[in-house]
Amino acid sequence: MRNTVYGLKRLLGRKYRDPQVQKELQLLPFAVVETATGSVGIKVNYLNEEHVFSPEQCLAMLLTKLKDTSAVALQTQVNDCVISVPSYFTNNERKALLDSAAIAGLNVLRLFNETTATALSYGIYKQDLPAPEEKPRNVIFVDCGHSSLQVAACAFHKGKLRMLATAADPHLGGRDIDLILADQFCKDFQTKYRIDARSSARAFIRLLTEVEKLKKQMSANSTTLHLNIECFMEDKDVHSEMKRADMEALCDGLFQRVEITLRQCLEQSGLALEDIHAVEVVGGSTRIPAIKQIIEKVFHRSPSTTLNQDESVSRGCALQCAMLSPAVRVREFSVTDVQGYPIAVSWDASGDGEAPGEIEVFPVNHAIPFSKMLTFYRREPFSIRASYVGNVPYPDRNIGIWTVKDIRPTAEGKAQKVKVKVRINLHGIMNISSASLIESKESPDNDVPEEQQKINENSEQPQNETANGQPEEGEEKKEKKKKQIVKSVELPIESLTFGFSQVELNQYTEQEFKMIAADRQEKERADARNALEEYVYELRGKLSSDDELGPFVLDSDRETLTRQLDDMENWLYEEGEDCNRQVYQDKLTELKSKGEPIQLRRLEHDLRPAIIEEFARALQLGNKVVEQFRAKDPKYAHLTEDEMKKVEQTVVQSYKWLEEARSQLASTPKHVQPSITIAQIRQERTNFENVVTPIVNKPVPKPESPPKETKEAEKEVGDNAEQNQQQTNQNQEQPQQNCTQDEKMEWSST
Ligand SMILES: *[C@@H]1O[C@H](CO)[C@@H](O)[C@H](O)[C@H]1NC(C)=O
Ligand SMILES: *[C@@H]1O[C@H](CO)[C@@H](O)[C@H](O)[C@H]1NC(C)=O
Ligand SMILES: *[C@@H]1O[C@H](CO)[C@@H](O)[C@H](O)[C@H]1NC(C)=O
Ligand SMILES: *[C@@H]1O[C@H](CO)[C@@H](O)[C@H](O)[C@H]1NC(C)=O
Ligand SMILES: *[C@@H]1O[C@H](CO)[C@@H](O)[C@H](O)[C@H]1NC(C)=O
Repeated sequence: MRNTVYGLKRLLGRKYRDPQVQKELQLLPFAVVETATGSVGIKVNYLNEEHVFSPEQCLAMLLTKLKDTSAVALQTQVNDCVISVPSYFTNNERKALLDSAAIAGLNVLRLFNETTATALSYGIYKQDLPAPEEKPRNVIFVDCGHSSLQVAACAFHKGKLRMLATAADPHLGGRDIDLILADQFCKDFQTKYRIDARSSARAFIRLLTEVEKLKKQMSANSTTLHLNIECFMEDKDVHSEMKRADMEALCDGLFQRVEITLRQCLEQSGLALEDIHAVEVVGGSTRIPAIKQIIEKVFHRSPSTTLNQDESVSRGCALQCAMLSPAVRVREFSVTDVQGYPIAVSWDASGDGEAPGEIEVFPVNHAIPFSKMLTFYRREPFSIRASYVGNVPYPDRNIGIWTVKDIRPTAEGKAQKVKVKVRINLHGIMNISSASLIESKESPDNDVPEEQQKINENSEQPQNETANGQPEEGEEKKEKKKKQIVKSVELPIESLTFGFSQVELNQYTEQEFKMIAADRQEKERADARNALEEYVYELRGKLSSDDELGPFVLDSDRETLTRQLDDMENWLYEEGEDCNRQVYQDKLTELKSKGEPIQLRRLEHDLRPAIIEEFARALQLGNKVVEQFRAKDPKYAHLTEDEMKKVEQTVVQSYKWLEEARSQLASTPKHVQPSITIAQIRQERTNFENVVTPIVNKPVPKPESPPKETKEAEKEVGDNAEQNQQQTNQNQEQPQQNCTQDEKMEWSST
């Protein structure tokens, strides 16, 4: 309980003293500390030592696990991915998630809003979406899950979707209902049993689990339902009950917030109720009848459940990943997302008296990804700050500070024209991605007065998007002025933004790799230990059974070996509990050296009769050939007397060997290593066939000159001979060969 980390989504990219973090900590059973830099440190026991990891590192561990699971399932390396984020995630939280992915060695093609992922998994399969010139199909998506509520309005056309608006309540989900109900039961237990369930983390977690089950039952059943937990605390069993109406009364405040969020999205989208085609619900908590009723109340239609409630987000991400990856071809579907929170940039006064300024570069619901060019006239380096405008669900509205360097006045002492590209990328992260000095050598038509130090906004229109949703870089508009020789010089930018530095990232990545290696080593160690343990049980069980290995070992030997196995078992649970892999492997090898000869005797005993039988049958066939030859069977007319003598002799010799072997083996007790092994019998048979087969299979010569292949075929034995024979047949078309071939099939039937 104290070493199982979860709930990282709500800790990511935040400071320890962040009110949201402080609220979460009251619910989390593991230890969280404030680090020297004020960030969140998760304290866990790892390899018997106390370690403090950041939420980003812990999430990287989870991603590593998911990556591994996917790689096993897909039977291929996984590098590229699309990761979903709540649509209300701010710049820093997104940045933190990208850092986690970097530590896990994943290449993130896109951070994808959960709402947008859901919309994509809805739209891509719809064949009947309106054509581009028609009115769009507007769909509302309501996603209420474990800990948050997200609502989105989305416009669909054939092959594309455009987000219209989103609204969210980041602290409203199933678990908030559970907490309210758990609180109620705590009060009840306090009066009934005089126990404080909150004083024991373990008891409280059990209560939450039971409450969640009860909540699900209440969704389907409006009668009074019971909650029973055995041996809850202080050896007391507890009982209580609740019905749906009670739950709805207790959670009324939460449900009101659901309504507020729904109305907010509707209002922002600018849609009239009759413009809405459907309200699709996903997320476990939308199964709650009260939430369904609020949806009906706000949108005047019953929610539709055509999407998979639990998987639509992951499906949307998988589809987006396939679209963005060059390795896969999928139906194209363009995705235009919108900016959740307006972003403004501001700058200081310039040296020569220009006032400081601010501009809202990305208003709310502005399409993204997007770039804007800002033009400045400066004599010296200057800084640009970016921050959110208005309320965001994050305590710090600042996004970053960028300093554009290396600016000097012109030779005439005038200000230089500097163009700065402000970009919000596919992940929803803002950046000043470039700055350049525009030197106009000669500009007769340029009537922009240099004193008028104003911000020019270029590329105000959304960038055209490629069909698969990939953004085109916002390209600087070409200067329209004629005869103007423009030279553009890249300026260095120094940035101060949230997230790990490259050095830190490298360090954490290395640490993660070490942990992956340690995990692998630990798995190999555990596998070796299990293999030894398994062998001990298996061998001991078989030794004691008369149907298995019992008869194949001398009683006294069995007792000794069984004792050794008992000792080994005890050792495994005592001093041998925690050894390294090699120790277990060596012990296993040692045990096998004793167990395997016994197992081998049993195996020889079991397989031997069939092998002897096959050999005997081969000898009979040899005899038959000799008889047929003597009876002047035309099939063997092409063979000589000498050849047939050789066959006969070999049959006799082999038969003698086999008879001797049989009697010798019959007199060998089961627990004694047989003097003649199956391998020897097989070898003897091969020797026999090497002599006999080429003679018997000798092709009938053609009346004229025999083809060369025949000679080659003669040398061949076994399966190769059969193949050659077939080839020869094809070449020569001699019907008689069919018989020989049949014969041959029997020879090599084993
Ligand atoms: C509701 O729960 C009660 C009590 O457990 C049970 O008897 C009843 O069959 C349930 N009704 C439905 C519709 O599940
Ligand atoms: C959706 O994701 C993008 C990044 O892909 C982000 O910029 C935007 O703010 C998100 N949309 C909403 C409505 O939050
Ligand atoms: C911001 O832009 C700079 C310059 O193009 C680039 O090196 C940097 O990686 C970008 N940062 C982010 C977070 O995209
Ligand atoms: C694409 O760009 C052209 C001209 O640059 C513009 O007329 C058109 O409306 C744009 N299309 C979209 C979908 O933005
Ligand atoms: C031999 O085999 C060939 C092709 O498989 C067949 O056409 C032919 O009739 C067979 N001849 C005899 C004698 O069975």
